[in-house]
Amino acid sequence: MTDNTVIPVKPDLAAGSRFDAARRAEMAERAARDPDGFWREEAGRIAWMTTPTRIKNASFEGDVSIKWFEDGVLNASVSCLDKHLAERGDQVAIIWEGDDPNSDSKVTYRELHQRVCRMANALRSLGVKKGDRVTLYLPMIVEAAVAMLACARIGAVHSIVFGGFSPDSLASRIQDCDSTVLITADQGRRGGRTVPLKTNADEALKSCPSVKNVIVVRNTGGDVPMQEGRDHWWHTLSEAAATDCAPEPMNAEDPLFILYTSGSTGKPKGVLHTTGGYMVWASFTHELVFDYRPGEIYWCTADVGWVTGHSYIVYGPLANGATTLMFEGVPNYPDVGRFWQVVDKHKVNIFYTAPTAIRALMREGDAPVRKWSRQSLRVLGSVGEPINPEAWLWYYRVVGDERCPIVDTWWQTETGGILISPLPGAVDLKPGSATLPLPGVQPALVDGDGKLLEGATEGNLVILDSWPGQMRTVYKDHERFIQTYFSTFPGKYFSGDGARRDADGYYWITGRVDDVLNVSGHRMGTAEIESALVAHPKVAEAAVVGMPHELKGQGIYCYVTLKSGEEPSDALKKELVAWVRREIGPIASPDAIQWAPSLPKTRSGKIMRRILRKIAANETDSLGDTSTLADPTVVEDLISNRAG
Ligand code: WTA
Repeated sequence: MTDNTVIPVKPDLAAGSRFDAARRAEMAERAARDPDGFWREEAGRIAWMTTPTRIKNASFEGDVSIKWFEDGVLNASVSCLDKHLAERGDQVAIIWEGDDPNSDSKVTYRELHQRVCRMANALRSLGVKKGDRVTLYLPMIVEAAVAMLACARIGAVHSIVFGGFSPDSLASRIQDCDSTVLITADQGRRGGRTVPLKTNADEALKSCPSVKNVIVVRNTGGDVPMQEGRDHWWHTLSEAAATDCAPEPMNAEDPLFILYTSGSTGKPKGVLHTTGGYMVWASFTHELVFDYRPGEIYWCTADVGWVTGHSYIVYGPLANGATTLMFEGVPNYPDVGRFWQVVDKHKVNIFYTAPTAIRALMREGDAPVRKWSRQSLRVLGSVGEPINPEAWLWYYRVVGDERCPIVDTWWQTETGGILISPLPGAVDLKPGSATLPLPGVQPALVDGDGKLLEGATEGNLVILDSWPGQMRTVYKDHERFIQTYFSTFPGKYFSGDGARRDADGYYWITGRVDDVLNVSGHRMGTAEIESALVAHPKVAEAAVVGMPHELKGQGIYCYVTLKSGEEPSDALKKELVAWVRREIGPIASPDAIQWAPSLPKTRSGKIMRRILRKIAANETDSLGDTSTLADPTVVEDLISNRAG
């Protein structure tokens, strides 16, 4: 595979799309020349109570202040619901497909509006006000979308915690933002198994005094204890509430949600997104990138616990009046043809998933895909990690029958929505490349000193100027926001990713250049896993790095130094794996543990992670410069005892 493999835009697609090459070029030119004019117009895609007159007011210098549409007033739920009632109240807003292939349901925009209003009123009846934080710990059920929009309706700030996180992870995310309400379910379902959400929540809440009320969805009907005065059944509250609820007027810069994400140091940060810019960005990118056309069925397989679920299951598609499919299950249950069975069942037109799923399904061969027609599919998307050309081509040839363009979308929790991606009717594709920036996005590559690199080159991926969907701050820690994103290369937003740019200006994301891992598309900080490991009574020190993993993209490789007197054993390895799963959640399961009598350090005591990464990747013949090591024999020992 070379940069020269080009798959041109299909003429019929270009002809049928609102965003062909000429339009894309015109938009990019106008967004660069007159950002205020361009975004003033694009702001019209969502519903405002007061139309903004001030458009962009952002600086990446000094204290870093990012404001968009700052005198506008709106409510996000109105754009997702009320706006559509007259024209498409009876159109299906959400298709829900259960883990069990025999369970599904459909909710129209009118019904969704009513359900959201009821829950919004219920939250108000519990005393929740504008600005209060509400944590959601839910499975992929319609109530998750309802709860998000109900918070938005009354101006409460939602913070979703992925259902795969442990009680400890849930607790620390509740404590950080002092949520007063937790919304959860009795249990979740995934791949034929149940997930003990309420039990986990009860465990977490032992250390969360801020939470006064818990709302519990009866989902599986599993028997769960309800604490008198604190716990309320969702259905009881909803049934008692009215079906209309006046939306809270929100300033464009009032918070819409917090979403915790991992960084290279410390505990997860609360990424804060505000209302106006985020909604414009979610709607704009969902329409352009997927070439979304009215009436189409759109399916993003992410979980609402991640940013992809926020922007591309709920806010973007609903703002655009789409029919969005929510899937409770997993790609291989009851069998590895599940995705394609669901595509045929609901006649899905646009399908958006992660490379890790594509790689896992590719391994099962073509037959489980070919068994289904997939004729409804028109556009295929990829997100969350670099997609290797082999997986890209399989997705293109087998899943899409060479008929559907692939949009490889690069973005981050921090960016709110997609920044670099082809537009299906406008940009020629190259397998493995996220291609070109969207109109209004100014990526650049810099070297280690922050010097801008021109032409075909490789470097650190930065963004030079603000876009409406950008995060505004780290919740309660603006200093950390400045430090994390604007201090490495002052005046520029640093993504943490490396990338290559080819002679056609196409971007090829190479992955994180910091200590953030991307395991099956799930983002994780090595520091979090290390602190979980050292919390174990037998562990003295730990260093965690990523290693190449065929299916997961990256696997988790842990070097563990035991306290003196402790004996290494396979049983202890198992215990540590279970320990990390319990501390953080199953997604952080270590793939390899190596006993390290000591870790390679510089004379000043800094762990040389570069060397640990090389050993984990089994690239021990290219360790690089080891002259600054305090004790070179440490490395020899680690190499000869590599966990394989
Ligand atoms: C990675 C997920 C290559 C990247 C939306 C980024 C990608 C991190 C791509 C953000 C892609 C996401 N190609 N890498 N198309 N999309 N990434 O915050 O390393 O969970 O920094 O947001 O995922 O992960 P996050």
